[in-house]
Amino acid sequence: MPATMMTASSYPPLNVQVHTPRLSLLGATDELLERLVPTVRKGVVTEAPWPFDDPMSLYKDSPEREWEWLRKVWAGRGNVSDSYWRLYFVVVVDDQPVGMQDLIGRSFSTFGTVETFSWLGPDARGRGLGREMRQAVLHLAFDGLGAREAESAAFVDNHASNRVSEAVGYVPNGVCWDTRRGEPAELTRWRLTHDRWSEGRRDDIELVGVTDCLPVLGIDRSA
Ligand SMILES: CC(C)(COP(=O)(O)OP(=O)(O)OC[C@H]1O[C@@H](n2cnc3c(N)ncnc32)[C@H](O)[C@@H]1OP(=O)(O)O)[C@@H](O)C(=O)NCCC(=O)NCCS
Repeated sequence: MPATMMTASSYPPLNVQVHTPRLSLLGATDELLERLVPTVRKGVVTEAPWPFDDPMSLYKDSPEREWEWLRKVWAGRGNVSDSYWRLYFVVVVDDQPVGMQDLIGRSFSTFGTVETFSWLGPDARGRGLGREMRQAVLHLAFDGLGAREAESAAFVDNHASNRVSEAVGYVPNGVCWDTRRGEPAELTRWRLTHDRWSEGRRDDIELVGVTDCLPVLGIDRSA
């Protein structure tokens, strides 16, 4: 059965889907996570420049890497309130899981701001999928959830991530510091307002299952 047609969950966030002509973001069910485990086991990042801030399961050695990664996703899926939520999506291309795209809301009803986090398996990079999946999740955030602004940050030497932000319309928003594998490093921060997103808005992205998910996240679009 194609991943897009799997049985609906009784938990609405797992039924949310975003479809573009090239890929789908599918709510991260255990079945999809299991299909992504071989990519995680093989290694998502294996050399500098390290792209993730600490702590990061994907920096660990296998099999602790897969176990910790699964525990983090399970815990994150369960940690949902009006003041904090994180939606986990598996990125699927030609029915094959190739990475993850997350969407995070902190006090979303108050600020209307989201953050994004993503990775692709090494074999899937450099083909425009990173840009496409960011546009997909931004469509969900702005059109589906009613976000007012999206933020992103990437270490200054993470050219792919910074270029994705720039290419989809974010503007620079200063710098900040974090650690990666224990060492401090500078990040470039990015910001995309709803108005700016609207200028480059795509009309070929389809959202599925969003309305049922809104109350789970404490979002009232009539307010
Ligand atoms: C970040 C990531 C998701 C981007 O996905 P991707 O599929 O590799 O990126 P794309 O192919 O969509 O490329 C987007 C842009 O970045 C550019 N780019 C991609 N890789 C690059 C690199 N290594 N150096 C410089 N530019 C790069 C592309 O040319 C493209 O620019 P364009 O829009 O001007 O053509 C992916 O590289 C990845 O998983 N990296 C490791 C994990 C990571 O960094 N996650 C983000 C943490 S903040």
